[in-house]
Amino acid sequence: MVSIDLSGKIAVITGGGGVIPQGVAKCLGTAGAKIYLIDVKKESAKKAADSLRESGIAADYSIADITDSGRINTVFEEIHTKEGHIDLLVNCAGIMISKPYMELTDQDFNRQLSINLVGMDNCCRAALRYMKERRYGRIVNISSVAGRSGAPTAVQYSASKFGVIGLTQGIAAAVVKEGITVNTICPGSVMSPLMQEVGAGYAKAFGISVEEGIKMHIAKSPTGQAQTPEDMGNAVLFFCSDLSPHITGCSLNVCGGKRMD
Ligand SMILES: NC(=O)c1ccc[n+]([C@@H]2O[C@H](COP(=O)([O-])OP(=O)(O)OC[C@H]3O[C@@H](n4cnc5c(N)ncnc54)[C@H](O)[C@@H]3O)[C@@H](O)[C@H]2O)c1
Repeated sequence: MVSIDLSGKIAVITGGGGVIPQGVAKCLGTAGAKIYLIDVKKESAKKAADSLRESGIAADYSIADITDSGRINTVFEEIHTKEGHIDLLVNCAGIMISKPYMELTDQDFNRQLSINLVGMDNCCRAALRYMKERRYGRIVNISSVAGRSGAPTAVQYSASKFGVIGLTQGIAAAVVKEGITVNTICPGSVMSPLMQEVGAGYAKAFGISVEEGIKMHIAKSPTGQAQTPEDMGNAVLFFCSDLSPHITGCSLNVCGGKRMD
């Protein structure tokens, strides 16, 4: 029987109050990891940590904006001081601005890049400081199927998610001899506030309602179904486990066959 045991491991999950991050937290926590959630929104982070604890998973949270590298370094230092090690980092925090291309602004692009890419880089470097010391670590960065192929209703978001794959491969190559793996998950469609933004983009582009836009987006998947937060969590769990020590710099589509590259 194959089983995954993350007992004793410390996992940090950014965007921890969000929908996919909670699925990831549940999967890693059920396998035994202690979970630290980081989110800019206190209410959702607290609620997510409370819910994990209610289901028997050791969990705590910190409030931080991942674009603030000083604050991020402090939060990772606090976790390290308390626990003595940081083993797993899952970078889930992200935003999307979905509009017709010519309506997007440079401020929109800066905001998406600073959270989806620069903020992710801040967290990778903050965690690697401690992972490199122990020559052990697992990092999983959340990209998107929009990081595999251009998305006409979310062009800048798509560019930021292509960037996540590049960042992942670069870091993976930089730390490949240090017992640390760095991989990417590319989700397809998971019902979350971000999916509302997807629907809003389709609504503007095709003159339909947001709900119809969401349906249109999900219908593009060959299975015709959305994925669940736990689908993402299980893929992350594999990358965080001892089953995948030689898999690094990899991008795994979890999208019901929408992308096969
Ligand atoms: N939902 C989908 O279908 C889908 C598809 C592909 C990729 N993704 C990616 O999955 C990840 C999670 O998305 P989700 O769908 O669960 O959305 P979500 O909105 O439920 O979760 C995102 C979380 O990130 C947090 N966040 C945003 N900016 C932050 C910042 N500056 N600092 C700290 N936290 C911040 C938010 O508060 C939120 O809790 C994102 O990176 C998203 O791009 C989602």
